[in-house]
Amino acid sequence: MADLSTSIAGVKLPNLFFNASGVCCQHEEELKTLLDSESGSLITKSATYEKRLGNPSPRYVPLPGLGSINSMGLPNEGYEYYLEYAKKYDYTHEKPLFISLSGLCLEDNVKMVEAFVTADLPCILEVNFSCPNVPGKPQLGYDLEAMENALNVLAPLIKKPFGIKLPPYFDIAHFDAAAAIFNKFDNLSFVTCINSVGNGLAIDFETETALIKPKDGFGGLGGTMVLHTALANVNAFYRRLPNKKVIGVGGVTSGKEAFLHVLAGASAVQIGTQLKEEGPQMFSRIKKELEDIMIAKGYKSLDDFRGKVKTL
Ligand code: SIN
Repeated sequence: MADLSTSIAGVKLPNLFFNASGVCCQHEEELKTLLDSESGSLITKSATYEKRLGNPSPRYVPLPGLGSINSMGLPNEGYEYYLEYAKKYDYTHEKPLFISLSGLCLEDNVKMVEAFVTADLPCILEVNFSCPNVPGKPQLGYDLEAMENALNVLAPLIKKPFGIKLPPYFDIAHFDAAAAIFNKFDNLSFVTCINSVGNGLAIDFETETALIKPKDGFGGLGGTMVLHTALANVNAFYRRLPNKKVIGVGGVTSGKEAFLHVLAGASAVQIGTQLKEEGPQMFSRIKKELEDIMIAKGYKSLDDFRGKVKTL
C-alpha cells in the first residue's frame, strides 16, 4: 500500500491531487464533478470582485503532445458566488476546499479577503498573483516590490495560513529575491508553482494565423512543455522556503510527472491541461499510477521521497 495523503495549510488532504484553479471550477456543477471524483481536494476559479465574462474566443486551444495555450481572461462569477459556495460547503467532507482570489487591484483583493475573513470559514485561500491574461494588468508576481506590498496588506488581514499562486521565475536571482520576501510572512503557508508560462504565441502553420484570439494570440502555456520549468520552480522554492509548503502545477499527465513534482519538493499537485482534456475521471488513473510507482520503488508515503531529488 502507498499512502498518498498530505497536508497543506495545516489541513489534511486524503491524496495530493486536485485541479489547478481555472479548470472545472467556475460553476457549482463543475465543482460537483470534482467532489465526485477521486481528487484529494478542489479549488474554485480565481474570483475577481465583479463577475467577468473573460476574453473573446477562441481562448483555449490544446497543442497535441505539447500542452495548451490559453488566454481566458479570468471569466468567473464574481467573488460573492464563491463565498456563497464556501458558506454552503460541507466541511465534514474529507476534501478541504480551496478558494482562489485574483483581484484586479490590491483594493479588490482586500475587499474580497475581508468578506471571507468576516465569514470565518474553514476554506483555504490561494491568492493568485500570476494571471498573464488580463489586458493591461501585468502579473503581480513579476513586480517584487508590489508583491511585497500586497503581502504586507493581505497577510495580517487573512491571519490564518494561506497561499499564493506564482508565475514561473527563470533566474536564480529572482528565486532568491522572491523567497526572501515570502519568508517574511509567517502565515504565508504555501506557494503554488507555477501558473502558465505567460505570453507564448502558437501559430497555425497552414493558415499562418495565431491559434487564439485575445491579445493578438499571446497566451499562457501549460501542460507537457512547461514540466521542467515547473519542476525547477517547485524545487527552487522548496529549497528556499523551509517553513512553507509548495504545491506543484505544470506538465502532469501521469503518475510519473506527479512523482517528479514530489521528488522536487511538492506537497500537493494540481493539474490543469490534462484535467481539461481528460475530465475528472483522470484522478483515479493518476492516483493509481503514482501508487504503482511508489510501490515499485519501495516508498510507503510521500514523505519518503519528497524533496529528495539527487544532484550530480
Ligand atoms: C485566466 O483566466 O486567464 C487564467 C487564470 C490564470 O492564469 O491565473
